[in-house]
Amino acid sequence: MPKKISVNEPIFDDSEVNIAQTILDSGLLSSSNMYGGKYVKTFEKQLSKLLDCKYAVAVNSGTSALYASLLSLGIKSGDEVIVPSFSFTATASAVIATGATPVFVDISSSNYNIDISLIKSHISKNTKAIIPVHLYGHPVDIEQLSEITSSNNIPIIEDGAQSLGSSIDGKKCGTLGDLGCTSLYPTKIITSGEGGVITTNDDELYNQLLMIRNHGLDKSGQTIRFGLNLRMPELEAALASIQLSKLDDFVNFSYNKIFRNFSRNSFFYDAKISFSGLNKVFSDEINKLYPFGSGNPEPVFLFENLKISKVKVLDKKHITNLFTSKNGFSIQAISFNSINESIGKYLLNYKKEINVIGYLNNNFWNNKKILQLVVRDIII
Ligand SMILES: Cc1ncc(COP(=O)(O)O)c(C=O)c1O
Repeated sequence: MPKKISVNEPIFDDSEVNIAQTILDSGLLSSSNMYGGKYVKTFEKQLSKLLDCKYAVAVNSGTSALYASLLSLGIKSGDEVIVPSFSFTATASAVIATGATPVFVDISSSNYNIDISLIKSHISKNTKAIIPVHLYGHPVDIEQLSEITSSNNIPIIEDGAQSLGSSIDGKKCGTLGDLGCTSLYPTKIITSGEGGVITTNDDELYNQLLMIRNHGLDKSGQTIRFGLNLRMPELEAALASIQLSKLDDFVNFSYNKIFRNFSRNSFFYDAKISFSGLNKVFSDEINKLYPFGSGNPEPVFLFENLKISKVKVLDKKHITNLFTSKNGFSIQAISFNSINESIGKYLLNYKKEINVIGYLNNNFWNNKKILQLVVRDIII
C-alpha cells in the first residue's frame, strides 16, 4: 500500500471560520484601492511589524510575489536572473514570465540551497538579479551572498515561500535582500488557501509593487506602467492575518517539548470517545506489538470498540490550557490506543463519556495509523 505523508496540513479553528463568515456577510470581498482593502492593509501591517521591515505587499500567490518583485526591478527580455537548480518550478518560471532567462546554479550538498561558492562564475554583464531560495525553511546565508552581489550591483530577491518564521543569526528571512517573497499555499507555514507577500525596505520598489499588483494604476487612477490584477482578496487576507498570529505556534510545532514520542506529522484533536470495554495487556505483549518497545513498563488497557466523535482540531495554546486545567489528567496518560492502569481502572468503574485529546501518529514500521490519547476529563 502506498503511504501518503503530507508535507503539511493546515490547521484552522473557530477564529478562521468566524472571520470568513463575517466577511461573507459584509459582502466586501475585495478592493481595487491601491493600498488594498481593510483586511489586506491589516495583514500587511502585521507582517511588516513581525518581520521588522518597512513594507509588505500582499498578492494572490507566491508566484505572483516573485513575478511582481522581478517586474519592480525592471527585469525584462535579454536579462539573466540567477536561480538555484533545485527549487519549486515557480522560482524559475517567474523569471521566464518576465522574458528574462533563468541561469541555474548548482546547490550545496550540505543544505540543498544554492551553492554560494559557484555564483561568481555564473555572473555575466546581463545578470540583473539573483533569487536565493530558503528551501524547506533552511536560510541561505544572505550576508555571505551579498559580498558577491553588492560588488556587482545585483539585487537579491529572497524566495522565502517555505521560510516564514526562519532566521539566520537573529535576522529574519525575507528581510535580508532587496525584496523577500513568501507563499500562503496550504503546504506552507501559514496558509490562506492561496496568497503571497512581498517584503521590502525600499520606498521606490514598494511604490512599483503597489501599481504592479493593481493594473499599473497610480494614486490618481491612471495606468502609468505595466501591471496585472495580482490582488489578494479580503477573505484570504483575513485568514492570513489569523494564521500569522499563530506563526510562533506553527514554527514551534515541536510538541516534543511537551510530549514524548510525538511525531512532527501529528495534529491534536479534541474529541469524545466511547468504548464497550477494556482489555488489560502486559508490557511483554505490548513490546511484541511495537518492535522498538512501547517504552511503557506497566500494563495498559486497550480499548474495545473504541468510537471517536466530535473531533475538532486544536491549536497549541488551547492544548496547553487544557493540560494545565484542574480537570485534566496528567500527561502520563498518553498511550498507544490504550490507557494506563490507574485511569483504566477508573474508566472500568465509570464507563461514561470521556473527553480526550488525541492525535494520530504514523506507525512507520507497520504503516498503520495509531491513535494516541490523553484523557482530559471524564463526564460522570
Ligand atoms: C520555493 C517556492 N517558490 C515559489 C513557490 C510558489 O508559491 P505559490 O504556490 O503560492 O505560487 C513555492 C510554492 O509553491 C515554493 O515552494
